[in-house]
Amino acid sequence: MKIADVQDQIDHELISKAQIDSKIAELAAQVSEDYRGRDLLLVAVLKGAVNTLVAFSQALSIPVQMDFMSLSSYGDGTVSSGTVTVRQDLSVDVRGRHILIVEDIVDSGRTLAWLADELKRRGAASVEVALLQKPSRREVDVDVKYSGYEIPDEFVVGFGLDYAERYRNLDSIAVLKPAVYQGA
Ligand code: IMP
Ligand code: MG
Repeated sequence: MKIADVQDQIDHELISKAQIDSKIAELAAQVSEDYRGRDLLLVAVLKGAVNTLVAFSQALSIPVQMDFMSLSSYGDGTVSSGTVTVRQDLSVDVRGRHILIVEDIVDSGRTLAWLADELKRRGAASVEVALLQKPSRREVDVDVKYSGYEIPDEFVVGFGLDYAERYRNLDSIAVLKPAVYQGA
């Protein structure tokens, strides 16, 4: 889905598809160089990171494995509680593996910090992180080795990111009109 398809609901586009593609290509080139000759497992957090994982993995020039995890960190619905629950776990043992967590956007950083610690606790050989990020809202320190665009403190949708489970299939990243939230 493109911006034009939902023009009446969009306030403005923040990152175009072309900009996403070029940033992901940049990150993928760096990761391909750093991990060439090593066995790399990409871990994506469902559902938001799926679009990034697909684009990123296809832009890599090295073979990798992929796995998924579904996490819930929102205790009361709106504010990240820091208490992370695993809804669906990885299907592989990560012991001794080099892992790259591929995320969409980090808000408070709580979910990602928890996941990185958990994978290390399970015996991963290394855990690095790649994503697009929203740094102004960061509450927890997470080391993001491969960092994409930094965006302002605005709620965004598209490229995997949703508002009430919608707009994930938009091919760029955009801010919705306030009326869309009021109508909820
Ligand atoms: P936190 O870092 O634990 O607070 O939560 C991060 C997760 O919240 C991200 O992986 C996204 O799935 C989601 N999220 C954060 N900011 C946005 C946004 O602007 N739009 C949609 N989802 C968001
Ligand atoms: Mg997410």
